[in-house]
Amino acid sequence: MQAMWPWRHVLITGASSGIGRALAEALAAPGVTLHLGGRDAGRLAAVAAACAARGATVCQQVAEVRDAAAMAAWIGGAGPLDLVFANAGIGAGTGSGFESAADARAVFETNVTGVLNTVIPAVAAMAAQPPGPDGVRGRVAVVASVAAFIATPGAPAYAAGKAAVQRWAEALDATERRRGIRLHSICPGYIRTPLTARNRFPMPLLMEPEEAARRTLRGLAAGRIRVVFPWPIYALARLVGALPPAWRAALMRGFPGKD
Ligand SMILES: NC(=O)c1ccc[n+]([C@@H]2O[C@H](COP(=O)([O-])OP(=O)(O)OC[C@H]3O[C@@H](n4cnc5c(N)ncnc54)[C@H](OP(=O)(O)O)[C@@H]3O)[C@@H](O)[C@H]2O)c1
Repeated sequence: MQAMWPWRHVLITGASSGIGRALAEALAAPGVTLHLGGRDAGRLAAVAAACAARGATVCQQVAEVRDAAAMAAWIGGAGPLDLVFANAGIGAGTGSGFESAADARAVFETNVTGVLNTVIPAVAAMAAQPPGPDGVRGRVAVVASVAAFIATPGAPAYAAGKAAVQRWAEALDATERRRGIRLHSICPGYIRTPLTARNRFPMPLLMEPEEAARRTLRGLAAGRIRVVFPWPIYALARLVGALPPAWRAALMRGFPGKD
């Protein structure tokens, strides 16, 4: 099987499930080395086996994204890296009435600090490697969300954390591209994964993780700074997000919270 995508050395956090798993399997091919991270060693091993069966060389790492030193050691020691996904993330919200302090802290620690702990060593490693034929030393894709564009009352820390990493990635791209490193924000709508399986509200245009992975890789191959899909959900988020805050709050008051 021939590799469909141009990247040969790829590192993915949160590869043991959902979108990370689908990205790993979509990229797996002979000649491709995948560095796959996750916390659950059993599920990580199953994804690694599926990728190896497609011909990829796979290095598994039980990796806690909140541990800055461990992440720096893993990413710094991985060897050449064409593409890194800061994908690991968790969800929480006001499903039980309020967002607990513990949930809010856990979401920021994983979805924001965990992204920093991935992106910072990835950029450092890429800065030290030679550029490819297209002048790019490496690409870092931060998996944010369409939730980045709207202050969702049902998931306060999640929406705020996604806004932070989406903006950070896109702003950083402007300066890092001068030294040949590209950053991208990936902003999916609802994807069918264990993260959304707990949602007890309708999820319009729910997409399979395999389709999300295809759209993500197509967007990265086209060099898009922001890869966002599906467009009707994005358009709705931008529209509601642009309303005056009091109107938006009134419109969304009755919406159910995320568990
Ligand atoms: N599903 C959606 O609708 C959707 C939409 C937009 C954006 N996203 C984002 O996409 C990313 C992946 O989500 P998903 O839907 O694929 O969820 P998922 O199936 O629950 O997978 C989450 C992944 O993140 C890993 N992870 C969580 N906390 C971690 C930690 N502290 N250290 C290391 N790894 C950790 C998990 O590892 P273990 O399972 O091994 O613990 C798992 O591999 C997240 O950033 C999420 O916010 C999802």
